[in-house]
Amino acid sequence: MNSTPVTFPPGFLWGAATAAYQIEGAAREGGRGDSIWDVFSRVPGAVADGHNGDVACDHYHRAAQDIALMQDLNLAAYRFSVSWARCMPDGVTPNPEGIAFYADLVDRLLAAGITPWITLYHWDLPQALEDKGGWAARETAERFAEFAAIMHEALGDRVRFWTTLNEPWVSAFLGYAAGLHAPGRKDPSAALAAVHHLLLGHGLAVRELRSRDAAATVGITLNLTVADPADPDRELDRDAARRADGQSNRLFLDPLFRGEYPADVLADVAHLGMADVVRPGDLELISAPLDVLGVNYYHGSAFTSEPGLDPDPSSPMVAADGVHTVFRGLPVTGMGWEVQPDGLRRLLVRLQREYTGPAGIPIYITENGAAYDDEPDAEGFVNDEDRRSFFEQHLRALHAAITEGVDVRGYFAWSLLDNFEWAFGYHQRFGLVRVEYDTQRRIPKASGLWYARVAASNALPG
Ligand code: FCB
Repeated sequence: MNSTPVTFPPGFLWGAATAAYQIEGAAREGGRGDSIWDVFSRVPGAVADGHNGDVACDHYHRAAQDIALMQDLNLAAYRFSVSWARCMPDGVTPNPEGIAFYADLVDRLLAAGITPWITLYHWDLPQALEDKGGWAARETAERFAEFAAIMHEALGDRVRFWTTLNEPWVSAFLGYAAGLHAPGRKDPSAALAAVHHLLLGHGLAVRELRSRDAAATVGITLNLTVADPADPDRELDRDAARRADGQSNRLFLDPLFRGEYPADVLADVAHLGMADVVRPGDLELISAPLDVLGVNYYHGSAFTSEPGLDPDPSSPMVAADGVHTVFRGLPVTGMGWEVQPDGLRRLLVRLQREYTGPAGIPIYITENGAAYDDEPDAEGFVNDEDRRSFFEQHLRALHAAITEGVDVRGYFAWSLLDNFEWAFGYHQRFGLVRVEYDTQRRIPKASGLWYARVAASNALPG
């Protein structure tokens, strides 16, 4: 592996990320209502071992300690999400006690010299809104803009960075098509309606934030991938990769940056009725200029296709019969995801060329990281060379992209803490810091100590 020391541009922002349902716990405190994740977790078999986020990392009661940890790790920024169901338990009525939790968190972060980076929606829709149709219903987009306004009213004087949605692909396709995430629906048409309503919610929220705050830095976070044909010389594989790229990347990037859905994807899914939910004016709202693009990158994939082949049971893609993921023999993480750092470089170069460059906006990596089977020693310390190396390889790839001219301004490791990893429960650990769930003890891992040095020096050691 290349071990030349590399230095990042001055002012490069080093942070770590979390999400409300994954760390807060206190699910029934402070007037919080149920979100779709509370309800989904109660469905037998939905989450590994029947786990849920009722306690999670108990961050709700340990915020001060967790901010001290961030300081120990030299983090300049902290990306977290606000729980809609804590702030508006029925999705529409503000709950001052819930909002106060975040106001206090922001104050503490600022006092600690850490820049707060807010994500308004990281998958935890109030169940009351799901009962009215969830993201498949247009009304949810309007409610989301109201939520954005309420949060901005409470925090806008102190928070500069606002992300509307985290990974709308996951919300729509894992939640409404594959049924692997809350709300657990398996309805491809609902998933495509959800794509549009999530993006519309984003557009309405951007309008709301802009009208209140000309100085806000507003963006969205997308999970993006590199979709390769398993065999580039094979037409069917190239078409499989096109479909995967279309549904994972372009279905979100094109409306946001070009004000239109990609024609080939619309043709693939024409029988599923997506065009019916798009109204005049929606795409203008969705494509309102952004200040930053947040990119979450974990891995790329290779695809093949064979007519008549059964659909891939693990694939959340819609209208993609016969499309399968092919593993290329690369090392994999605990999630079974291929370790593919050069995919990050390729992705960033493409984004700069096709989307963010022409729009003249910078990129922040808002998530990147890896789960591994951590083995703590007697003191609870984890010497996670696998995770440290994952971070290093991806940061080198990111640096290479910057050298090639991509405007990347910051990086958030996923995640600050081991936490509730959605359908995997507590089995997949992504933290820079180990959490012993029975005692809630936090112990920085070797990767966390390494990351702290990188953040402090703005450079990778040679
Ligand atoms: C991303 C999510 C984040 C976490 C990581 C592993 O898709 O945004 O909450 O689960 O994956």
